[in-house]
Amino acid sequence: FAVHLVSFFFSKLQEDPTKKVDRFLYSMCLNDGQLSDISARFQAEMKKGLSIESNAAAAVKMLPAHVRSTPDGTEKGQFLALDLGGSKFKVLQVKVREGTGIRKGEVEMEEQTYPVPRELLSGRGTELFDHVSKCLKDFLHEKNISLEKKHPLAFTFSFPCEQSSLNKALFLNWSKHYRARGLQGKDMIQALREAIDRTGVLALVNDTVATMMTCGFDDQHCEVGLIIGTGTNACYMEEMRHVDLVEGDEGRMCVNTEWGAFGDDGALKDYITEFDRDVDAASSNPGRQIFEKMVGGMYLGELVRLVVLKMAKQGLLFDGCVSDALRTKGRITTANVAAMEEYKNGLKNTRDILMDLDLTPSPDDCIAVQHVSTIVSFRSSNLVAAGLAAILTRIQQNRNLRTLRITVGVDGTVYKTHPQYPKRLHKVVRRLVPDCHVRFLLSDSGSSKGAALVAAVAQRLASQRQK
Ligand code: GLC
Repeated sequence: FAVHLVSFFFSKLQEDPTKKVDRFLYSMCLNDGQLSDISARFQAEMKKGLSIESNAAAAVKMLPAHVRSTPDGTEKGQFLALDLGGSKFKVLQVKVREGTGIRKGEVEMEEQTYPVPRELLSGRGTELFDHVSKCLKDFLHEKNISLEKKHPLAFTFSFPCEQSSLNKALFLNWSKHYRARGLQGKDMIQALREAIDRTGVLALVNDTVATMMTCGFDDQHCEVGLIIGTGTNACYMEEMRHVDLVEGDEGRMCVNTEWGAFGDDGALKDYITEFDRDVDAASSNPGRQIFEKMVGGMYLGELVRLVVLKMAKQGLLFDGCVSDALRTKGRITTANVAAMEEYKNGLKNTRDILMDLDLTPSPDDCIAVQHVSTIVSFRSSNLVAAGLAAILTRIQQNRNLRTLRITVGVDGTVYKTHPQYPKRLHKVVRRLVPDCHVRFLLSDSGSSKGAALVAAVAQRLASQRQK
């Protein structure tokens, strides 16, 4: 008995520190059965958003993007492009060159990033657009582009808009860091025209749509666009006969799902943890963008901080010590999460990050906190996989295919900078939809370039109609 007792205590002392984290966070570890359930729930939400009877009440808005085709390489033109709402605000000059024969088309671009002053994020909408206009003028000046000529402009605007065409876009609501007042229900194209006189705004697109178009330029199979950045969202090519909100049944149209709002009507209530509730309550848009708050880069660090704080308070970490820094919102960032999960230096980074928070972690504490990061970021990629599986299944059913070959264009800081995120995501998607041959294509500045491509495709289609 004594031997058993000793070995029991010994094993307790030696317990792998990740075990206690697993126990503490069991509600964040989703198995394939749960992910399939979430996927089925998202499929139901997509149907609800597409149907004219249920759209008004649907949390997932399924906004028609009025993009009817991905590029085929014969597009051409020169455009100015603006990209607002991702992690950076950019102004670009994009030249689309036509390809002939086996030669593919080419896109050349010059870009400049401009900071958006914090006060503008929550100021008046007109001030935000004045800033946009100022940056554009600066760009034209820098690049020696004539101010006299009228320039065709394409706009990537990474927020939901109700579009009745490519160049009419009524703004619905902000998400992520933005809160500027007085824009709701306004036409964003008009707002841009008012701020910038010498431009003809050709098209407004969501960043997901821009990403799909950029990847579609290189890969004809790309019919899904995915963003995992500050926020998260996806778009895909839907059959026109299912897009109730737009006249006509022929062909396809890109639909911006706005899946960040999945769960806003309670559809995810079985999967929401106390940490998700806390993040939501402390956000600028409580009750909204529930899925985004479980997935997006704006929230992952905060989720990790809240878990670590609670574990410390319960004496499960740092001998029960808590620092002021650890109590402070925003002190663990998504960049920290990525650093903690780096292959080689992850544990050392974790230690440095915790020391920066005025904590004195033991080696076991570091292992445990690194594991918290892993669980939080893994849940994010799992949830994205569930959403994507729903979209892929829908496309497969739409087209009545036994197997679907498709490419997903991806952009966003989380996907691009977290060391393990892409691999985990790919693996789970392939497990959830084994009949789909999915290729993931990282888009190169996709959300900026894509708006110009949308404009170029629209011009090509218009000139084809005229012939
Ligand atoms: C938010 C926006 C959405 C955008 C996504 C990614 O969810 O509502 O429009 O696509 O962030 O940037």
